[in-house]
Amino acid sequence: MRANLIIGAYTIVALLAACSGASTPSNPSNLSNPSKPIASGEIWPDDRGEHINAHGGGVMAYEGTYYWYGEHKADTTSSAYVGVTCYSSLNLTDWKYEGVALSVVDEPGHDIERGCVLERPKVIYCPTTKKFVMWFHLELKGQGYAQARYGVAVSDTPTGPFTFLRSGRVNPGLYPLGMTEKDVAAVEAIPAKSVEKWWTPTWYDAIDRGLFVVRDAKAHSDGRHDLPAGQMARDQTVYVDTDGRAYHIFASEDNLTLHIAELTPDFTAHTGRYVRVAPAGHNEAPALFRRGNTYWMITSGCTGWAPNEARMFSAPSIWGPWTQHPNPCRGPKAELTFMGQSTYILPVAGKEDAFIFMADIWRPRHPSDARYIWLPITFENDVPVVEWRDRWTLDFFD
Ligand code: DGJ
Repeated sequence: MRANLIIGAYTIVALLAACSGASTPSNPSNLSNPSKPIASGEIWPDDRGEHINAHGGGVMAYEGTYYWYGEHKADTTSSAYVGVTCYSSLNLTDWKYEGVALSVVDEPGHDIERGCVLERPKVIYCPTTKKFVMWFHLELKGQGYAQARYGVAVSDTPTGPFTFLRSGRVNPGLYPLGMTEKDVAAVEAIPAKSVEKWWTPTWYDAIDRGLFVVRDAKAHSDGRHDLPAGQMARDQTVYVDTDGRAYHIFASEDNLTLHIAELTPDFTAHTGRYVRVAPAGHNEAPALFRRGNTYWMITSGCTGWAPNEARMFSAPSIWGPWTQHPNPCRGPKAELTFMGQSTYILPVAGKEDAFIFMADIWRPRHPSDARYIWLPITFENDVPVVEWRDRWTLDFFD
C-alpha cells in the first residue's frame, strides 16, 4: 500500500515535470533509505554485488525512478566491447542492473562496431514523441579519436534496447549564431602559414574568429582520414531546459572550444543554431545545470585520462555570454577535481537548489575499476561550490 502511494506520488510529480520539460521529477523526501551514505571513490556494488560499470554517464529520472546510463568499461581497454549500460534506482544509492541499453554490433564497418570508442552517453526523455533519446560521443573503430562524431539512438522504454539512428559531425555547412558570410570570408583569407604554429597570438586570434569552424564546415582530410563536413563532437552532454528545448553541449574544434547546439523538437537532430564557448579554452567533460535564471557549466581541462583542475562558467542565457569563474572544488586534491573529471550534474527535483556533481575517477590501466565521485553542490553568494565529503547522505538536501 505504502509502495503504491509512493509510486503514485512519483507519477504525479513525473507527469508535472514532463509537461514542463524538466528532467528530474522525483522528490528525495519520498526516496527510500535516504540515509545510506554516498562514498565517492569507493566500490559501488549494484544489486548483484558487482561494481557499477557505467562510466562517463548521466542520470535521468522518469516516473519516479532514476536511470543511470554510462560506458561499460572492460578490464584492459577503454574501447567499447559491450555498449551503454543502464541501472535503475528509487533512492540514488541502491542500483539495480538493467542490462545493456545500447549494444555495440558485430557487423564489420558498422558505426558502432564492437571495439569502437563510445563515450559519455546521456539520455533525455522527449515528451512530444514519448521516446527516450541517447546521445554519445563516437569514434569509429580503428581511427583513434579522428572522427569526433556524435551518435544518437532512441528507445520506447528507459531501459532500452535503444536503436542506433546515426552518427556524424554536427551542423555541416553551418556557422555559429552571429557569424556572417563576411566573417567566414575573412577567416578563409587568413594565410595558412601564419597559423601553422599553435598558441601564438596570431593563432589565438584566428581560433577566436573561427579558423577551425570554417575548416570543419566542409568535408576535408586530416592527411590520414577522410572527414565528413560538420563540427567535431567529442566529450558531450545534453540538457533539457525548463521550456522543453534540448541542447547538445560538446567539445569541438580539436577540443579547443565548446559548442552548444540546439536540438530539434524530437531531440534527435540539430536545428543548425549553435554558439561557441571559450574559444581556445581547451575545455572538455561539460556538465550543465540551471539555477533560477543562471546557467552553470562545470568542465575540465584536456589531459587525457589524467585529472586536472575543474573550470566553471555561468551565463544568463544558454546562448551566453558565458563568463569563467574560479574552480568550484574545495578540499583535498581540489586542484585536481579530487582526482576525477566531471560528467554530469543531477538536479534532485522536488528540492530547491539540490544538485549532485557527478565525476569519474578514471583508471586507464584497469578501466572497469574506475570509480565515481558524487558530491552535493552548495552555493556561496549564489556561486556553486563542490566540497569534498568522504561520506554524505541525501538528507543533506532536507
Ligand atoms: C578525456 C575525456 O574526457 C574522456 O572522455 C576520454 O575521451 C579521454 N579523454 C581519452 O583520453
